[in-house]
Amino acid sequence: MNLFSKAFASTIPIFPKRFIRIFANKYIAGDKLSDGVKTVQELNKKNMIATMDVLGESIKDKKEAEQSKNESIEVLDAISKYKLNSNLSVKLTMLGLNLDYDFCLSLFTEIMQHAKELNNFVRIDMEDSSVTDSTLRIFEDSKKNFDNVGIVIQAYLRRSEYDVLKLTEMKANFRLCKGIYIEPEAIAFKKRNEIRNNFLKLIRLILEKKSYCGIATHDDFVIDGSRKLISELGLNKEDYEFQMLLGVRENLRDKLVIEGHKMKIYVPFGERWYEYSIRRFKENPNLAGQVLKSIFTRN
Ligand code: FDA
Repeated sequence: MNLFSKAFASTIPIFPKRFIRIFANKYIAGDKLSDGVKTVQELNKKNMIATMDVLGESIKDKKEAEQSKNESIEVLDAISKYKLNSNLSVKLTMLGLNLDYDFCLSLFTEIMQHAKELNNFVRIDMEDSSVTDSTLRIFEDSKKNFDNVGIVIQAYLRRSEYDVLKLTEMKANFRLCKGIYIEPEAIAFKKRNEIRNNFLKLIRLILEKKSYCGIATHDDFVIDGSRKLISELGLNKEDYEFQMLLGVRENLRDKLVIEGHKMKIYVPFGERWYEYSIRRFKENPNLAGQVLKSIFTRN
């Protein structure tokens, strides 16, 4: 880990909120649903699709979880009202996954039902390894009743090959990413090349099994490897998509769109942007380094 990133990340919580906002601005659509809608409209005009995420993670009680569920439903309604080309991403800990499995499943089912009525799609984000099993269980339980649900697999986890093989059996719709949480070596690859190689191995497994794959990365190595695989397997646009975070590597993003690949942008918004940013910076100090770099280079 870069010492500069680490030092910078440790000082973040003492910065005024106003200052953090400057750093976070590029990566977060804004405080309100209307900010998210505006950002997605701009992306749609540029030939990109989106997935919207209401910011926040673990919640303390069931009332907060209900509120999160209502917010997700409002997002689905806004997507429909403004005819946005976007779906929804949700974090299950915001729906009470750490409080009560059945309660979380019932809230998530309400969201899924609403999405189905609106002909939309919901992807379950993957959080840290303490909830991998329960997150996959909710996905598998939901998949029995809904086609319009997708899951995320993290290439840094050693278990992911097993999970991918199991989930391709049920024709899961995948987002594959490296994984953003700090995990112990016993369960996660740590070396950059190991993670990259596992990423490419998993994309191949998913695509060869004819499951849909959202390739979520800004890494040239993984993107180049994916491009080669896409042409080797003779895939067309309906079989896969690239995904990137709002505000990250926009030149590369635009290039992939011009090349004709489908590009989905992850658009986070919400009042809890501050807590979200601080947590993300603390979880992964390298991110803080990247944010800082982007402030200076504006890339
Ligand atoms: P890497 O970190 O090596 O980045 C490659 C290059 O991209 C860097 O050198 C830098 O130039 C640039 N870059 C990357 N991130 C940047 C940033 N934040 N700011 C500025 N520049 C940046 N994780 C997870 O655990 N669960 C999840 O559900 C998701 N969901 C998700 C959705 C989408 C659409 C994306 C793109 C990513 C996620 N992630 C995630 C995060 C993912 O696991 C990973 O942490 C980041 O994408 C960074 O990994 P890269 O593959 O981009 O490589």
